[in-house]
Amino acid sequence: MKTIKEENNRRDFLKKCGLSTASILLPVSGLTAMSSLESPNGSPSESKTPVNFIYDGLALSPQEYLEKLNQINKEKPIEPDFYGNGGATKIIEEEFARITGKEKAIYLPTGTMANQLAIKLLNGNNTKVIVPENSHIFRDEADAAQSVHNKRLIPVGKGKPYFNLDDLKNTIDYTNTNEVFKSGLGTVAIENPVRRADGTSVPIKDIKEISEYCKEHGYKMHLDGARLHIASAFNNISVSEYASYFDTVYISLYKYLNATGGAILCGDAEIIDQVSHQIKILGGTVFQSWNHTSVALHYLNGINKRWNEILKTSKAMISELNKIDGVSIVSLQNGTNIYDLTLNEEISLKKLAIFLYNEHSIWLGRSNEKGVVKFTVNESLLTRDYDDIMSAWKKGIEHART
Ligand SMILES: Cc1ncc(COP(=O)(O)O)c(C=O)c1O
Repeated sequence: MKTIKEENNRRDFLKKCGLSTASILLPVSGLTAMSSLESPNGSPSESKTPVNFIYDGLALSPQEYLEKLNQINKEKPIEPDFYGNGGATKIIEEEFARITGKEKAIYLPTGTMANQLAIKLLNGNNTKVIVPENSHIFRDEADAAQSVHNKRLIPVGKGKPYFNLDDLKNTIDYTNTNEVFKSGLGTVAIENPVRRADGTSVPIKDIKEISEYCKEHGYKMHLDGARLHIASAFNNISVSEYASYFDTVYISLYKYLNATGGAILCGDAEIIDQVSHQIKILGGTVFQSWNHTSVALHYLNGINKRWNEILKTSKAMISELNKIDGVSIVSLQNGTNIYDLTLNEEISLKKLAIFLYNEHSIWLGRSNEKGVVKFTVNESLLTRDYDDIMSAWKKGIEHART
């Protein structure tokens, strides 16, 4: 029998997460290895800030992260927190409460802990929690709800990017009809955008219908909004409107706010005031977290404006790239910042990716088994002149034609 350690082999883990394993590994191992083989000087174009079409955010290196912290500290000395109290951590909590329109917000070391504590506290003595089948809560939190918090997760919407009200009602009817010894359903969770569905967003109409139904029936609602700002930017729906349909909302500090970790949970004071004790008894109270919160706060400032800019720039870029013979970039239904890129057989993806990486510090992921590259746009697009990026692409494609 395999040990849990063996099961958790990292490559295997990334694959199972539905993350494009190859894409994730590309700049770190794949392309670095290729670059030393094929680049004339054996190293990528180092003078330029990387523009990556792979991650949610900037993917800052340790060096870049330290420089960013230094810059933030020079602009205004960073105030430390102690065990999560005060300093940059308190400021970001207040800011998130304001942005989401909730009474309070609290910093947690991970999104996993934020999700788990939200459903535990919202659920009270009820045992059942309904979750999307393809969600992080159901598939990627190591059965914490069952093994740590005595909650039973009931998955809904298998094989779909998200579930709708009918799916939810059918599941509730099914358990009500088929279980003899009743135990309560307390919470319904939604993930938006959906990571395992390449950033698909749940349509607001479905969220509203589910939220109304849950209110009517006394079920609480939790939103795993790890990447909520991205759904907000692509659907032109404010973070506070999304949050208004839920009792608690979690947002990540590292997906696109570029911190090295951390999460924020927002909700009514009645729930949020119970969280710090829960973090402590789970061993998650960290002495200081300003190293995450000050960077996230820096990137939170002006985020809506920057995402509007990213949308404009990426739309222009994608439309220009689509005019090139042999290149196709298409958006997904209800999609956000992840597109499907395919090249015809006359253009070598490997040659293109190596050229862009070595000569222009532009990172492109590998294709999946269907030959599709998950092409992700993010803030790194704004770090370079648009014409420079386009010119690199055009040169790269000509270079990669076989
Ligand atoms: C949708 C979603 N929710 C929750 C998490 C958990 O975040 P953390 O790694 O901080 O536990 C992730 C992380 O990948 C995620 O993608």
